[in-house]
Amino acid sequence: MRRALGLAAFAAALTPVLGAAFGYNSGAQKPGGVKNRLDYENEFRAAKALEGAPAGGFTSVRLFTMLQDENAGNNPIEAIPAAIATNMRLLLGLWASAGSAKFDRELEALVTAVNRYGDAFTRLVDGISIGSEDLYRNSDAVEEGSNPGANPQVIVGYIQKVRQRLSSTKLKAPIGHVDTWTAWVNGSNAAVVGACDWIGMDAYPYWQSTALPNNAIEQSPRLFQDALDKTRAASQGRPVWITETGHPVSGRTWGQSVASVENAKRYWHEVGCPRFGREPIWWYKFQGDQAGDQPNFGITPPGQLTSKPLFDISCKPPGSSSPVPIPVSTGRPGAGGPPTASSSSASTSSGARNSPRSDVSSPPSVTTTNSAILLSGTISATSSTATNSPMLLNGTVSATSSSPATNTNGAVLTAGSIGGVWAALLAVVFAV
Ligand SMILES: *[C@@H]1O[C@H](CO)[C@@H](O)[C@H](O)[C@H]1NC(C)=O
Ligand SMILES: *[C@@H]1O[C@H](CO)[C@@H](O)[C@H](O)[C@H]1NC(C)=O
Repeated sequence: MRRALGLAAFAAALTPVLGAAFGYNSGAQKPGGVKNRLDYENEFRAAKALEGAPAGGFTSVRLFTMLQDENAGNNPIEAIPAAIATNMRLLLGLWASAGSAKFDRELEALVTAVNRYGDAFTRLVDGISIGSEDLYRNSDAVEEGSNPGANPQVIVGYIQKVRQRLSSTKLKAPIGHVDTWTAWVNGSNAAVVGACDWIGMDAYPYWQSTALPNNAIEQSPRLFQDALDKTRAASQGRPVWITETGHPVSGRTWGQSVASVENAKRYWHEVGCPRFGREPIWWYKFQGDQAGDQPNFGITPPGQLTSKPLFDISCKPPGSSSPVPIPVSTGRPGAGGPPTASSSSASTSSGARNSPRSDVSSPPSVTTTNSAILLSGTISATSSTATNSPMLLNGTVSATSSSPATNTNGAVLTAGSIGGVWAALLAVVFAV
């Protein structure tokens, strides 16, 4: 037995790349209501069996809220028991743009979940995001009153509050915040960076209609890398996790970026494949929405759940016809990367320990929960993987993120008066 473990550890040490979290964003809503435990279980099973996916399927899911019912009670989101039942890892999210009373309910729901489910839950947590795009929505770029966010001081206060509240519990997961890359590069938000163990970047070249020379699909790899580089430069040494990115399979053209299955496939292969398994990433998104002319980012169609993607998602090396296997992580997120699939044998798993912090980070994406959702009280989501705090302190933690609730209304999206990237981002928020 001892020898077997030793060999496993040795093999792990030789593995060049740790399995970083390979996840997707999951909102709390479904057409006509909020998802319940069965909905989440069915979704997680389908996502884990995604045909042709690196590592065999998604292994982590990003949530946007801890509350099952935004309007009443502190019941934890039912994605948690569903994740336990399906061994899905979690990048938890606490909604932070609806005032402190609502935030306190998010926190109580999290503590309730820890007490109720114990280690079966905490071992699955890749990270905890305090908020989602609150700084983006707080910026001048977003129309006043149309889309409430939260200012940096508020987010820093929430982060401190969560750290203190969780310190007496068994949940030891890295705490961060998710925002658009444009919010991270804004120096006025530096205090939030300083309060985080990791920072989550949302980036969507599709929405960057003012990018130069343009945002046509062939510019996407460069635009994404640029957003990631700038976010890392502003990260004060924190790991950067890619918490949202993707390209729509259908919907209107934005700037010069065309929404199509062909372009979504190209984006997956050119932006996603080089990073899957190497950097923590939560794709936007697994199942599509009935979106009308709004962009639909799903790699599987709306309606009946399926594990069959709309295009070939197997990652192949250049000039080869064989898919590249992605290591499935089996340990806690290590220094290098966020979450990985299974859990506890932290020591063997991740090469993360040997990775520079910079390897941990990854690109952005725009997440969104839209205020519409908020207003309607439908946001939800959660979870994270835990890496232990010591790792965090050393800057080695990795993990992942969260995402906003899916929203059902696309109607409001239009940000006609806003303009440029911001408009695009805003639109995303709404659209999603
Ligand atoms: C930069 O961040 C501050 C604080 O969040 C915000 O008030 C301001 O509008 C942001 N600037 C831009 C250009 O978005
Ligand atoms: C990790 O962090 C702990 C706590 O801050 C510190 O004592 C230890 O020296 C750090 N280890 C490394 C390798 O930085």
